[in-house]
Amino acid sequence: VGGGSTAGSGSGSDSSPVKVGFSQVGAESGWRSANTTSLKNSLDDANGFKLTFSDAQQKQENQIAAIRSFITQGVGAIVFAPVVETGWDDVLKEAKDAKIPVILEDRSVDSDPNLYTTRVGDDFEKEGETAGKWVADTFNGKKANLVVLEGTTGSSAANDRTTGFNKAIVGSDVKVLDSQTGNFTRSEGKTVMEGFLQKYGKTINVLFAQNDDMGLGALDAIKAAGLTPGKDIQIVTIDGTKDGLTALSNGAFNYVVECNPLLGDQVAAIVKKVVAGETVDKLYLAKDQAFDQAQATAALPTRQY
Ligand code: AHR
Repeated sequence: VGGGSTAGSGSGSDSSPVKVGFSQVGAESGWRSANTTSLKNSLDDANGFKLTFSDAQQKQENQIAAIRSFITQGVGAIVFAPVVETGWDDVLKEAKDAKIPVILEDRSVDSDPNLYTTRVGDDFEKEGETAGKWVADTFNGKKANLVVLEGTTGSSAANDRTTGFNKAIVGSDVKVLDSQTGNFTRSEGKTVMEGFLQKYGKTINVLFAQNDDMGLGALDAIKAAGLTPGKDIQIVTIDGTKDGLTALSNGAFNYVVECNPLLGDQVAAIVKKVVAGETVDKLYLAKDQAFDQAQATAALPTRQY
């Protein structure tokens, strides 16, 4: 699918650097830190970019303000990881009117696709489906009493993972006792898990945490309740950070689905193409795998994030 777009004054023709504004979601998780580092490293001066970085602290209004400021600065391209899916139409139209291409990084938006150039990210629905299939298979013939720690409400990562997971458990022995947001953070993962344990006690025998960090926070709550994570409560998470794979290798987690945050090089290559007026695809999805305990142990020594 073509989505090419030419850029305005900040486009870095000949040898001048390409001015890029990057509006990042925040610093809520280990995944996010790795993603920020990857983008900063790839969009750096040595690669021909002049990067302006903005951390939105998980707030949509901060991202809208950052994008407006990038437009005023006349950047050559905007890279943008949208915290939630909806509510971007006006600001995306403003960027389009200013002829500044917008490259979505990580999450997607629920807007007219003509308002952005492309998206580079992971297949969240597939990740959820892989996690759901693991629970359905593991608890085949045994009753799974499941609780879910959802990601940030309204984010495409949370929405699509929920969709994929729910698809995969249709007709299985999985009963969803409860599902609440832990906002992709360790601290909220812990607090929400404490609430689940108070409400359902030992009935819970499986947890789906929509990212590693919430799962890691939940470990504290589970141990404090006198239960053994990985045994009394089996745990599946998404991301595959070093901390997540370490918990899996140690037996505290049982399965981890990967979500690759190392998108910087691909984003940088696409920005270069777009500002050069070349046509790019509308969607670039990273390849993700999944890990059991042995695979995590084998992967850890060379894990980059
Ligand atoms: O959008 C990707 C998700 O956002 C990651 O799974 C999570 O860790 C991050 O906060």
